[in-house]
Amino acid sequence: MRSSHVSRLDRSISAIGQGCWQIGADWGDVASETAQEILAAAADAGVTFFDTADVYGDGRSERAVGAFLAQRRDAGITVATKMGRRADPHTPDAYNLDNYRRWTDRSRDNLGVDTLDLVQLHCPPEEVLNNPQTYDDLRTLTQEGRIARWGVSVETSAQALRALDEPDLATIQIILNIFRRKPLDEVVPRANAAGVGIIARVPLASGLLSGKYSEATTFAENDHRTFNRDGKAFDIGETFAGVPYEVGVEAAREVALLTPEGWTTAQMSLAWIVAVGAGTVIPGASRPQQARDNAAAGAIESLDDATLAALKAIYEERIAPHVAERW
Ligand SMILES: NC(=O)c1ccc[n+]([C@@H]2O[C@H](COP(=O)([O-])OP(=O)(O)OC[C@H]3O[C@@H](n4cnc5c(N)ncnc54)[C@H](OP(=O)(O)O)[C@@H]3O)[C@@H](O)[C@H]2O)c1
Repeated sequence: MRSSHVSRLDRSISAIGQGCWQIGADWGDVASETAQEILAAAADAGVTFFDTADVYGDGRSERAVGAFLAQRRDAGITVATKMGRRADPHTPDAYNLDNYRRWTDRSRDNLGVDTLDLVQLHCPPEEVLNNPQTYDDLRTLTQEGRIARWGVSVETSAQALRALDEPDLATIQIILNIFRRKPLDEVVPRANAAGVGIIARVPLASGLLSGKYSEATTFAENDHRTFNRDGKAFDIGETFAGVPYEVGVEAAREVALLTPEGWTTAQMSLAWIVAVGAGTVIPGASRPQQARDNAAAGAIESLDDATLAALKAIYEERIAPHVAERW
């Protein structure tokens, strides 16, 4: 597993991390024992970065990570969590120091740590990202010892570029995958130059980029790939990366044809993100074997130029018209 040093985080983290949304909720039923097996499979395969959030299963994901850490203190795992989405209603004025203290105290409790390694604002309203007070409050949390570093999780490249103006921003989490390439234009180069970590989320476009779904595939009722297909529960970009399902299935078939021998399409899709220079990729997994397979993609050196060009052509022809303007 390759690792890279993130200057603003002052840590090295693995090229492939572990997304922990599945072990909270919203992806059908993932049993608590399976959750522990997924985390163990990832850590045993060299993953040293877990991404969770206080709202994933209303704390279930954080508590699962906390239980795992309690057994494996020596695993050298950096845990990133998120805050903001517990606000109900989810309005800009909820992003204030009192709430930040309450939210981070709950996460510290769930994760069983005194100081959170990294806290990300969880796709806050644009107004919050544009308000200098937001960043002063986050600095206060670091001075208080509640958090070690802070970052942002954002929907759009424009939001990422705003956050990059802050000199102590540690990380930016953004959707980046074969179907979502816009961050490569400005966000990734600027972040890399500044030593800010890029955390590439939804790297498999919610599984589409494994090439395993068809037009006939159905998902559980409590899976966001059923209930958020129209963006009713949260930003539609978080489900299949905002690509209309049938369009994505068709394009993923073409992507799958480019899979080099000995790899899976999911592994190629993760390797593509590493190859284009993003820091850490955080695939989610609903079973331990997926976590193992995903971690193995961290050993893939690069993709050849012809494959990179063909993937770009699929994006430009089939996908860009659906996503490029919006995010
Ligand atoms: N706003 C935010 O900040 C935000 C939003 C979304 C996600 N995230 C974070 O990003 C992480 C990753 O994104 P995501 O989980 O939404 O989407 P993803 O990683 O693109 O897709 C995960 C799904 O892909 C399939 N999969 C994973 N590994 C596979 C493999 N090796 N072979 C075949 N299929 C595989 C599984 O689908 P099946 O279950 O169908 O097998 C899995 O549930 C999340 O877990 C979360 O930590 C953050």
